[in-house]
Parts: sequence; C-alpha cells; structure tokens
Amino acid sequence: MAQDDLKRSAALAAIDYIRPKLTTRSIVGVGTGSTTNYFIDALADIRHLFDACVSSSEDSTRRLTEHGISVLDLNSVAEVTVYVDGADEVNGARQLIKGGGGALTREKIVAAASDEFVCIVDEGKVVDVLGRYPLPVEVIPMARGLVARAIVELGGAPELREGLTDNGNLILGVHDLAITDPVEMEQRLNNIVGVVCNGLFAAQAAHRVLIASATGVRLLQ
Ligand code: A5P
Repeated sequence: MAQDDLKRSAALAAIDYIRPKLTTRSIVGVGTGSTTNYFIDALADIRHLFDACVSSSEDSTRRLTEHGISVLDLNSVAEVTVYVDGADEVNGARQLIKGGGGALTREKIVAAASDEFVCIVDEGKVVDVLGRYPLPVEVIPMARGLVARAIVELGGAPELREGLTDNGNLILGVHDLAITDPVEMEQRLNNIVGVVCNGLFAAQAAHRVLIASATGVRLLQ
C-alpha cells in the first residue's frame, strides 16, 4: 500500500475516533502536514457535528477555511475537545518527533491546550528509539549560532533549514542526537537561550496514536 493511502487511512480512522466525542459546541484542534491534510478534507464532511477549529499553521488555516470550516484564535476558546495531528516519528510510549513541516511550536501549543491529543501516522513513522529523523528546533534568528554551538555540545549536528516559520523564526534540523531519554532531551533543548521550542513531544506525549498499515489501523494507547 502506498504511503499516501496509509496516511489517508489513519486520517479517516481519526474521524471515526473523534465523531462520538463531538457536540455542536466542540472545538477541534488541527495539526499540520500531509497526513493532517487528509484529516482536514474528511473533517469537512462532518463540520455540522462541531462548532469550529483552532489551527496550528497558516497552511492548515487556509485549507480549513477553503472547506468552509471556521477557524478561531486559540485565545478566544475555553476548551479544545481534541487535537489531531501527524508526526515524523513515534515510539512505543507515544512520544513523538514533530516539526517536519516547521509548525512545531504552534502544534505544541494547541496540543497542550487540548483535552486529548490523537496522533495519526503510517507505520513507517514507528521507531524503537527517537532520533533517526533530524529533530526540528525553532530558534530566534539572532541566536542561530549560539544555539547551534550549544547543540553541538549536546552531541548533535545542527543543520539550518531553508525558510522561516509562521512565527518568523529559523529551524535547525538536528542530526545524530542520542535521544535515550526523550523527556530530559526535550527539557535540555528548551533550556538553551534562543530556543523557542523543539520538536520532541515527550513530556506531554500523544494520548492515542492511530497507526495505519496494510493490514488496517491499530490504536496505541
Ligand atoms: C508539521 O510541522 C509536522 O509536525 C507534521 O505533523 C509532521 O512533519 C508529519 O508530517 P506528514 O504528515 O506530512 O508526514
């Protein structure tokens, strides 16, 4: 089965999973990326079941709006029923590397504001140990060199990615980090002055992960 078909399967499984939780007052948190795009497209079919969305990126906001789904500012909502988003890597403890699309900071904010975080992936994203995917770290532009040197001290090899985030910052993709303790590494990276956020979602892991493979979608919880 092609990876895109698996992404679509995971996204449709998320629709089935969240449907019974929704009321006409529910706010749905929406992530970013190609797997989430399948979720957004399917969400359009059930938009009568919830109130509105909060979004983790300009790209997702645009796609939601094109489907006629209203998108609210996170500051204007009291509660987010569920957040659905993809990931670049997932381990057995539901800890993640995210940020391949550069939206990690807003993704972590919406995830933190939500009652439940449902991650949707194809089986190619499942790993025993996080870190094969270069870890995205969002950095204030003037601190790029300072942060890169601190990351080298931690054993990582930072590489500057092209472009700016929705927040106007840079992304360093960090190779070769030994992420044996994801919670500790998440904290150590956050403690570097100039780091806005890093793509380890470990201290707050996903509550559920829907993993699509050729034999179906399984739930990790
Ligand atoms: C976006 O910044 C990311 O966190 C994505 O959720 C992650 O990169 C997965 O993207 P795909 O669904 O496109 O593989």
